[in-house]
Amino acid sequence: MNNIPPQNRALLRIGDQNIELPTMSGTLGPDVIDTRALGNHGHFTYDPGFLSTASCTSSITYIDGDQGLLYYRGYPIEQLAEHADFLEVAYLLWHGELPNADQKREFDGLVSHHTMLHDQMNHLFCGFRRDAHPMAVMVAMIGAMAAFYPESGDVGDPHQREISMFRLLAKVPTAAAWSYKYNKGEPFMYPQNRMSYAENFLYMLHANPCESYQPSPTLVRALDRIFILHADHEQNASTSTVRLAGSSYANPFACIAAGIACLWGPLHGGANEAVLRMLEEIGDVNRIGEIIQRAKDKTNPFRLMGFGHRVYKNMDPRAAIMRQTCHEVLDELGLHDDPLFRIALKLEQIALEDDYFIDKKLYPNVDFYSGIVLRALGIPTSMFTAIFALARTAGWIAQWSEMVSTPGHKIARPRQLYTGPGRRDFVPIDRRG
Ligand code: SDX
Repeated sequence: MNNIPPQNRALLRIGDQNIELPTMSGTLGPDVIDTRALGNHGHFTYDPGFLSTASCTSSITYIDGDQGLLYYRGYPIEQLAEHADFLEVAYLLWHGELPNADQKREFDGLVSHHTMLHDQMNHLFCGFRRDAHPMAVMVAMIGAMAAFYPESGDVGDPHQREISMFRLLAKVPTAAAWSYKYNKGEPFMYPQNRMSYAENFLYMLHANPCESYQPSPTLVRALDRIFILHADHEQNASTSTVRLAGSSYANPFACIAAGIACLWGPLHGGANEAVLRMLEEIGDVNRIGEIIQRAKDKTNPFRLMGFGHRVYKNMDPRAAIMRQTCHEVLDELGLHDDPLFRIALKLEQIALEDDYFIDKKLYPNVDFYSGIVLRALGIPTSMFTAIFALARTAGWIAQWSEMVSTPGHKIARPRQLYTGPGRRDFVPIDRRG
C-alpha cells in the first residue's frame, strides 16, 4: 500500500482496525474501491442487487445515469442511432472500433452466411405447444445450439469464440422469427442473404410462401434503430447473467440462453410487453390518474411499467430517441392519432409533473415507447422481448468475449451474510415434535 498515493487509498476503520484499500479510476465515471482484500480482514462487502458494486472492468459501454448519457465504445447513442446501422454497431461493440467499408462488407457477409439454423432444429420447434411464449422457445433453441456445435465449448480457442459469436448474431433472429411463425402455424421463412439484417428479420416474421413481401425502407430503418438502442447497456441483469455463466467457461450458447432467460423478467426486458398491456388496460387518457395513483400506492405491488431505472436518474436517452421514432413510424403509417401513443404521451407528461416520480427520479426508460413502435411495425406483443433479446445478443457476445479473453479472470462466486441456524445435531424422526 505504501507505493499507492494517498489520493488513491480508501481508509476503512472497523473497531480498532484501520484497513487501507486501493481505489481505481476508469476513463469515465466514478472511482471504485478495490475491496478484494477485505476478506483477509474477516469482512465481506454486502450489496444485494449490486446497487454500489462494480463486478468487472469493461471498455464497451458507458452510462452516466445523472446526465442521461449512453456511449458505445465512446460514441453517443444519439449519433449511432442516427448514422450507423445495427451490424456496424455490433462490429463496434465486438471489436472496439467502427468498421471501414471493407471490414463492414466482410462482417455483413459473414453474418448473412450463418443465418440458417441446423435443419434438425426444425424438429425442436415441433415439441412445443403452439401457444409457447417466444422467449421460452428462444431459451430452448439458443441453449440447444450447444448440442449442434459441441466444439463451441472450447472457449479458450479464439477461432471457436469468433465462429460462435457469428452464429449467435446471425441465428438468433431466425430462431426468434420462427418461434412466432410456429405460434401462428405458418411455415418457416428461410433467411434471405440479399437482405439487410432488419429487413431479413421482418421478412422471416411477416412473409409467407404464397406472396411477395417487401417492407418499407422507413419501417426497416426504424427496426434497425430499435436494434441499435437495445444492443448493449453495461452490466444490466441479463448481461451480468451472461458474464456469471461465462465465468465458469460454460458453452457460449448456454451463456446467451441464460441471458435470454434473465431478460424475460417484467422488471427487465419483459417490461416492453408489460408496458403495452398496461397502456391497453388504461384504454383512455381519462384513466391515467387512476393508474398513477395505483403506481404510487405502497400497499400495491403495481409499478408504472416502462418507468424508472437503476442507473438513469434522468431521462433514458434511448426513450427520447424511441419517442421520436414513434412519431416517424406512426406518421409514415398514418397512425399519428394512435390511441395508445396518445395515452403514452399523456402518461409521460402527467408522471413527470407528479412529485412522487420527480422525487424518486423516475423517468421513462427504453421500454416505455418501444412497444408502441414495435406494434406499429406489425410485431405482436408476445415478440417484443424476443426482439430485445435479438438486439441485446450483440452486447452479450461482446461482453462475454471481453470477459473470457481477459487474462487471469476468475469464476464469479459471491459470498453471503449467513442468517440461518447455528450448528445443531441431527434429531431422529421419532424424537421430533
Ligand atoms: C430495462 O439495468 C439496465 O440497464 C436495464 C435496461 C437495459 O437496457 O438492460 O435498461 C432495460 O430493464 C429497463 C427497466 C424496465 N423495467 C421496468 O420498466 C419495470 C418498472 N420499473 C421498475 O420496476 C424499477 O424502476 C426498476 C426495476 C427498473 C429499477 O428498480 P430499482 O433500481 O431496484 O429501484 P427500486 O425498485 O428500489 O425503486 C426505487 C423507488 C421505490 O420506492 P421506495 O421503496 O423507495 O419508496 O422507486 C419506486 C420504488 O417503489 N419505483 C417505482 C417504479 N420504479 C421504481 N414506483 C412506481 N413505478 C415504477 N415504475
